[in-house]
Amino acid sequence: MSRLRWGLLSTARINERFIDAVRRSDRSELVAVASRDVQRAKAYADRYDISSSYGTYEELANAADVDAVYISLPNHLHAEWAVRLCEAGKHVFCEKPLALSPANVDQMAHAAHEAGVVLQEASATRFHRQTSDIAEIVSSGRLGRIMFCHGTFEFTLPAAADIRLNTDMGGGALWDVGCYPVAFFQAVLRENPVFAYARAVNGPTGIDLAFSGFLGYESGTAVQFTASMATPTARSARIVGERGSLELDQPWLTSVGAQTTVRQQLMPSAAGAGTFGDDPDQLEVATWDYGPSDVYLDEVRGFEELVLAGSQSPYPLSDSRMNVQVIMALHESARTGQEVPIDPSSITNE
Ligand SMILES: NC(=O)c1ccc[n+]([C@@H]2O[C@H](COP(=O)([O-])OP(=O)(O)OC[C@H]3O[C@@H](n4cnc5c(N)ncnc54)[C@H](OP(=O)(O)O)[C@@H]3O)[C@@H](O)[C@H]2O)c1
Repeated sequence: MSRLRWGLLSTARINERFIDAVRRSDRSELVAVASRDVQRAKAYADRYDISSSYGTYEELANAADVDAVYISLPNHLHAEWAVRLCEAGKHVFCEKPLALSPANVDQMAHAAHEAGVVLQEASATRFHRQTSDIAEIVSSGRLGRIMFCHGTFEFTLPAAADIRLNTDMGGGALWDVGCYPVAFFQAVLRENPVFAYARAVNGPTGIDLAFSGFLGYESGTAVQFTASMATPTARSARIVGERGSLELDQPWLTSVGAQTTVRQQLMPSAAGAGTFGDDPDQLEVATWDYGPSDVYLDEVRGFEELVLAGSQSPYPLSDSRMNVQVIMALHESARTGQEVPIDPSSITNE
């Protein structure tokens, strides 16, 4: 196989970014879309110039000319449809969060393994070079021991009716955007947290509109993050070690076209002598950028590599599973007001 023939499972809004990326990639083509409603599927296919449309998801699963399916369903349907698609022999690229329980991730991993297909969470951040570069800087020791990290992903939900406001669909700020800092710090620290502590501000549907999380690590590192769908837009991350820090203005990279800049501050080795160590001029500052974010193209190309070249995933299912576990522990802490331990040894059977 030299090209992937894609089908879209649903007519979700996020598809637009994915369609654009697929169309700009040499090794992918978009051939089908499925909707719960046949008229909607047909109208969508006409609008986006897609050759086949289906009025049920089953028909897409059984379509012989489709190699890979992009799942853009509400979160509570990811697991069921990923399993069904894997069983039908399709490679699956599933939107974040991969699932809403570790048991579901295990079922999905098992189905992919049995069918010999690729199942991958579409966490675009993990496919971008910025994320792997930051991970390398952290592991190189350049910043010294990492003391703490901070991340923010906040926005205002524009619509009153949205899958994000429905608890039964896996809505809420933590599942929707809190999963980005959780996955990002997991990637760059290469360490899993051992406990979670959290507070949430809930809306009328009982959903968490604004979420503050704290993750503690065996090494002593602490991660604090905020996730919100009820406050003005804000995105940033800081990673702070004993010798230096990194500041990212687009850590999650989901704003297509936004400039992605990293600012590094390092203490020179003789810093602090004869002072209180609080002179910012002492710091060696370096900045670099990755150009405008085109992260959906990065993720499409990343998925192509997994299927067509058999390469290793930058975001294995064991990491997706830990991400789900951490989010569940954070939710439990917000509910109970208690610190919640996280079992670091849990792995999938991928
Ligand atoms: N990676 C990113 O940057 C990013 C950004 C946004 C969202 N996402 C993820 O993408 C997924 C979709 O998000 P979205 O905001 O694009 O969703 P959306 O616009 O609300 O669309 C969801 C689609 O799912 C289908 N669906 C099936 N059962 C449904 C139900 N019971 N209620 C509502 N819709 C149902 C519908 O398509 P049919 O009626 O055609 O079947 C609907 O169009 C979520 O998992 C979200 O976390 C990722």
